[in-house]
Amino acid sequence: MEPDLSLEIDGLRLENPVMLASGTFGNAVDCYAFADLNRLGAIIPKTVTLSPRIGNAPPRTVETAAGLLNSIGLDNEGLEGFCTRLWRGLASLTCPVIVSIAGKTDEEFVELARAISKLEGVKAIELNLSCPNVAGGIDFATDPARCAAVVGKVRRVYDGPIFAKLTPNVTDATAVAKAAEAAGASAITAVNTLLGMSVDWRRRRSRLGQVFGGLSGPAIKPIALRIVYQVAQAVSIPVVAAGGITTVDDAMEFFVVGASAIQVGTASFYRPTAAWEILDALPRALKELGARSLREIVGTFVGSSVSCEIGS
Ligand SMILES: Cc1cc2nc3c(=O)[nH]c(=O)nc-3n(C[C@H](O)[C@H](O)[C@H](O)COP(=O)(O)O)c2cc1C
Repeated sequence: MEPDLSLEIDGLRLENPVMLASGTFGNAVDCYAFADLNRLGAIIPKTVTLSPRIGNAPPRTVETAAGLLNSIGLDNEGLEGFCTRLWRGLASLTCPVIVSIAGKTDEEFVELARAISKLEGVKAIELNLSCPNVAGGIDFATDPARCAAVVGKVRRVYDGPIFAKLTPNVTDATAVAKAAEAAGASAITAVNTLLGMSVDWRRRRSRLGQVFGGLSGPAIKPIALRIVYQVAQAVSIPVVAAGGITTVDDAMEFFVVGASAIQVGTASFYRPTAAWEILDALPRALKELGARSLREIVGTFVGSSVSCEIGS
């Protein structure tokens, strides 16, 4: 018998735990002729903001060792463009679509959530509280009180599942996660990109159009893994992991430390079928642990097994 991959987050049933991360596969439903989006647990299109944004000056991406540094700047068509144009294609999918939103203020988040909740077929909202490429964009997830305020206000206008997406650019993500949970979040998504720089020393300039960018890809996986582990121990709502997940082994590491689901981001740029490869390989990995369901292995990490005697 094949292991049961399904899970439920605040009433939202997902057939499997594999999602595509916001901003890393566009909104171009029609471009996905090479793989069936409907097979995935869920997809999260590019973050939507109230007004259209043209994003930051190029270059917007630069490769680093084992990672990608980006300063896209939330380039998107804005709420109206999303509702009138992009949603049509996304609504035709049978897999759950989780709509990612970002506001500059609490009120913008509320306005976005209210409008998005009226679209037929939206299954959940992910609050991008943590975009490092927009002025002010990082503030919400660096401060527990600010995070709680946004989540709480959105909760009052939207009764579906709310995913609070956190930043890794803090000393203690658990405080922010706990605040989001207390304010009504249904799940925590951890993590967004890490703030970084890339410098062309000959020109004494940034390789990006901006000074800072967000680092993603395999380079950040150990950090994301540590944060997911810490957050999963601190909250009782599900944790959705993102950060360098490229293979089924990566995914399994995150499940074992406490993730209920995973998001594939940067890997899709260089292996567009990565999410499907992970999905197809999951049953075998679970069987290797003797598990009949994904649920059985979530959070089963047993801690350090190496004893280290200092001074001996
Ligand atoms: C080019 C690019 C654009 C992104 N855009 C968004 C976005 O619009 N909204 C968001 O919440 N996260 C965005 N992210 C962050 C990813 O969703 C993900 O959280 C992060 O990259 C870590 O996962 P990864 O290492 O698998 O890419 C973006 C990442 C990249 C690389």
